[in-house]
Amino acid sequence: MSLASGPGPGWLLFSFGMGLVSGSKCPNSCLCQAQEVNCTAMHLTEYPPDIPLNTRRLYLNNNRITSLPAMHLGLLSDLVYLDCHNNWIQEVMDYTFIGVFKLIYLDLSSNNLTSISPFSFSVLHNLVQLNLANNPCLLSLDKHTFANTSSLRYLDLRNTGLQTLDHAALHHLVVLQTLYLSGNPWKCNCSFMDLAIYLIVSHLDPPDDENATCVEPMELVGWPITRVGNPLRYMCLTHLDRQDYIFLLLIGFCIFAAGTVAAWLTGMCAVLYQNARRRSSEEEAEDEAGHRVEVAKRLFQNKEKSGQEGFPQLV
Ligand SMILES: *[C@@H]1O[C@H](CO)[C@@H](O)[C@H](O)[C@H]1NC(C)=O
Ligand SMILES: *[C@@H]1O[C@H](CO)[C@@H](O)[C@H](O)[C@H]1NC(C)=O
Ligand SMILES: *[C@@H]1O[C@H](CO)[C@@H](O)[C@H](O)[C@H]1NC(C)=O
Ligand SMILES: *[C@@H]1O[C@H](CO)[C@@H](O)[C@H](O)[C@H]1NC(C)=O
Ligand SMILES: *[C@@H]1O[C@H](CO)[C@@H](O)[C@H](O)[C@H]1NC(C)=O
Repeated sequence: MSLASGPGPGWLLFSFGMGLVSGSKCPNSCLCQAQEVNCTAMHLTEYPPDIPLNTRRLYLNNNRITSLPAMHLGLLSDLVYLDCHNNWIQEVMDYTFIGVFKLIYLDLSSNNLTSISPFSFSVLHNLVQLNLANNPCLLSLDKHTFANTSSLRYLDLRNTGLQTLDHAALHHLVVLQTLYLSGNPWKCNCSFMDLAIYLIVSHLDPPDDENATCVEPMELVGWPITRVGNPLRYMCLTHLDRQDYIFLLLIGFCIFAAGTVAAWLTGMCAVLYQNARRRSSEEEAEDEAGHRVEVAKRLFQNKEKSGQEGFPQLV
């Protein structure tokens, strides 16, 4: 039945609306009772239609659903519990959960998640438990991902592809009690230091911390990430490379050379000054001696003169 030949778009819209509003329906392959819809292991390949609008708990686990349509999910404004574990969901978008803002429990574990948009969980202020475990293709999480999920008490990030995690991503999780981080290929380079130190100072104490270990670099392979804070601080803050040593050596040599030259110059100046002083005082002494000689000479000459000429005058 095509749109043109049918009863018209108005009717379609009406029936669609009626279908959505009529809360009594139940998806064919699911079990519905008391605001709970159970579609566990029903071989579903996509999100089932006709889910009652007043549903509070929805089980979609153990199927082959590849995506969660925000349009349909958003109609379930009373939903508090959503279990999607063990499906083929590949990505979560900014608007996927925009309508289910009352969600308390969300399980997305064992899916094919490759990306989670930074604002996917931004309206989930009531979310207490979030499971993202067993998504080996999930390689990164944005630091804003958990910015608004401040009620979160349980966060499971086991067995993903995460190599690193911005410590700022955890800052808003003020009531977090359980954090699982094991089974990830943690790359403990210098960028990892902030998270490692945050894990120490925040006293989060992941229950699986013995199994949350570094796979890189060579020196830290097998180290629990809760204990690499200090080695990293040493390696990244106080550790010096060969270039640094050469640089320091050069600086030291420059200081040494400059010191030597300065000492030499000072010595030279002192000697020159001393010499100059000695010479000038000698000259003065010489001068004085010469002057005395002159005076004596003059006196003598005067005497001679007076002796020669004055005497007869006196006589
Ligand atoms: C959902 O149904 C399956 C069987 O179809 C059952 O094993 C499972 O316990 C049910 N889950 C809940 C939460 O009732
Ligand atoms: C999801 O992962 C499973 C097993 O890891 C794989 O068999 C399946 O093909 C993947 N599906 C998609 C759509 O990538
Ligand atoms: C957090 O929620 C507020 C409003 O509730 C919104 O304006 C803001 O963009 C959200 N931030 C993030 C990082 O999701
Ligand atoms: C550390 O590893 C991460 C993940 O591979 C990378 O994004 C980052 O640039 C690396 N940082 C340094 C300082 O090498
Ligand atoms: C760590 O891994 C080992 C072997 O995989 C497992 O037996 C043990 O229960 C794990 N410990 C924790 C705390 O997860």
